[in-house]
Amino acid sequence: MNAVDPRALRKAFGRYMTGVTVVTTVDRQGRSLGFTANSFTSVSLDPPLLLVCPGKFLSSYEAFAQCRHFAVSVLAEGQENVASTFAGYKGDRFAKTPYETDCHGVPFISGAIARFSCETHEIVAAGDHAILIGRVAGFHEGDGRGLGYAEGRFFSLGLERRAHDPEARVNRAGAIVQHRDAVLLERTADGYRPPEVTVPDHASLRSTLAVELVNRGASAELGPVYSVFDSKERAVHFAYLLATASTVAPSSDLEAVPIDRLQEVPFASRAIGSMMARFATERRTRSFTLYLGDCERGSIHQQQERV
Ligand SMILES: Cc1cc2nc3c(=O)[nH]c(=O)nc-3n(C[C@H](O)[C@H](O)[C@H](O)COP(=O)(O)O)c2cc1C
Repeated sequence: MNAVDPRALRKAFGRYMTGVTVVTTVDRQGRSLGFTANSFTSVSLDPPLLLVCPGKFLSSYEAFAQCRHFAVSVLAEGQENVASTFAGYKGDRFAKTPYETDCHGVPFISGAIARFSCETHEIVAAGDHAILIGRVAGFHEGDGRGLGYAEGRFFSLGLERRAHDPEARVNRAGAIVQHRDAVLLERTADGYRPPEVTVPDHASLRSTLAVELVNRGASAELGPVYSVFDSKERAVHFAYLLATASTVAPSSDLEAVPIDRLQEVPFASRAIGSMMARFATERRTRSFTLYLGDCERGSIHQQQERV
């Protein structure tokens, strides 16, 4: 048999669709630790057992390998930021994430659709990971749909379902937030994009977006609409506004990318890439236009009217 190529194997494993969890514990020094995991599996009802597989590469591996208690939070649709924070952010992950604590003093993620507080039942060595088996001491099931993960990308059952429903359309509002000579961008599994949020209707677009920016640590004034387009493939209607941030909290998950380096940024989609390229060009003369169209074609209009 041929030696197994780990990269090819990882890709094949990635074809298996999963949910996304954040696994948390507190180490002996009292520090809260956590990592994003899709290796979560329910194991047994009697006794109540579950498992998750921490990798030996984790900076928190020793703490998880020795922990007496841990918690698993099943992330909700819309919690991609939390998943990305607990997969990649190197600072204090809990400072960027709303959380509560369970009966053992272990943090869990607020807004998770389910959470399980566990006592460590057994740890089994398994190659470059360990199998951490927990006995469920308490659990809670919340509302909403779960966040999904497949082929290296997050997906959302709600959005995917609505995409197949010709009657339904999702409205997303985003902001190109300028802060000094930079733009605040969010890093997603697909690449960078301006911060955005699902809005219930057009009437609450500005207020929902403003609250989202505050929650993301940016105190910003919203300006004119800059780009309005439909993604027919995903049945999503996007509206991006220009905005200017006066302050950005150090704990913000948004990255300040210098405007003169925007052309080097891998954006999450072609539509966002071309919008940001237009923005970088127009910012030089500060004469902004308005794009109306879809992801492929549209028309450019002279600004500026406020909505
Ligand atoms: C969707 C997703 C699922 C993941 N699942 C696991 C997992 O089951 N086990 C694991 O050890 N790492 C998993 N990771 C990677 C860890 O979250 C990541 O390596 C970790 O947070 C890095 O933490 P550190 O900087 O403290 O080492 C996953 C990452 C993502 C994005």
